[in-house]
Amino acid sequence: MSGLHLERRIVIISTLFVLTLFGVAALAINMFHVGLPTCLTDIKPFQKGELIAHSPDHYEVHYVSKMWAFEPDEIVIPAGSVVDFYLSARDVTHGLILIGTDLNLMAVPGVVNYARMKFDKPRDYKLLCHEFCGTGHERMAATLRVVDRATFNARQVAPKAPEQTSPAVKLLEAKDCMTCHSIDGSENIGPTLKGIFGRPTKLKGGATVTADEAYLRESLVQPDAKITDGFDDLMPKAELTDDEVKQILEYLKTLK
Ligand code: CUA
Repeated sequence: MSGLHLERRIVIISTLFVLTLFGVAALAINMFHVGLPTCLTDIKPFQKGELIAHSPDHYEVHYVSKMWAFEPDEIVIPAGSVVDFYLSARDVTHGLILIGTDLNLMAVPGVVNYARMKFDKPRDYKLLCHEFCGTGHERMAATLRVVDRATFNARQVAPKAPEQTSPAVKLLEAKDCMTCHSIDGSENIGPTLKGIFGRPTKLKGGATVTADEAYLRESLVQPDAKITDGFDDLMPKAELTDDEVKQILEYLKTLK
């Protein structure tokens, strides 16, 4: 066989090989919903976690990762669904691993990462953060529940409890206060707001003050004026009008 013949054969075989590869990939994507490994998307980072239903068996979930939780913390989808995952980071770098699957994404501030997965059988999955992101890292988890179609449909028609978010809570959420301060007494980046009004508060440096109206007002307007002992000077200055400060103070009084 001449050298030219051999070369031609090699070219034909390699071309066929590459075409077959593309053909199989196209088949896998279209027929079996296998996700192509993707890199960064051109979607803008989002601040709100949500589950969007595109059709009865196609969902899109926007996960926001933040110190130290995922939002939404639980989603429920029917078995047989394809889910597009979009992941955004609100503060530092986090990660998302869906235990028991090969879904594994980085959550990097400023970008949105993407993956697609199909869920065939009912099962509860745990979502964990896999990047060491601070002192609350090990608590950072969420749940993805795959239920059978009948259970899912029954859930959809079940009456929902009316939302009862007070305007003050909405304001605290809008100003990002809740990222660091809980209202249920749990420890976070900042002191809990539960029972804060009138609370004796030990400051960095040793002094103890009463968290009265004047103190709380100062802490709202000028967060670095006095730092509670055991916490760091991390609170950013929020843009608050006088009315908003008043509204927050009134609300804090009610958090016994
Ligand atoms: Cu987020 Cu670890």
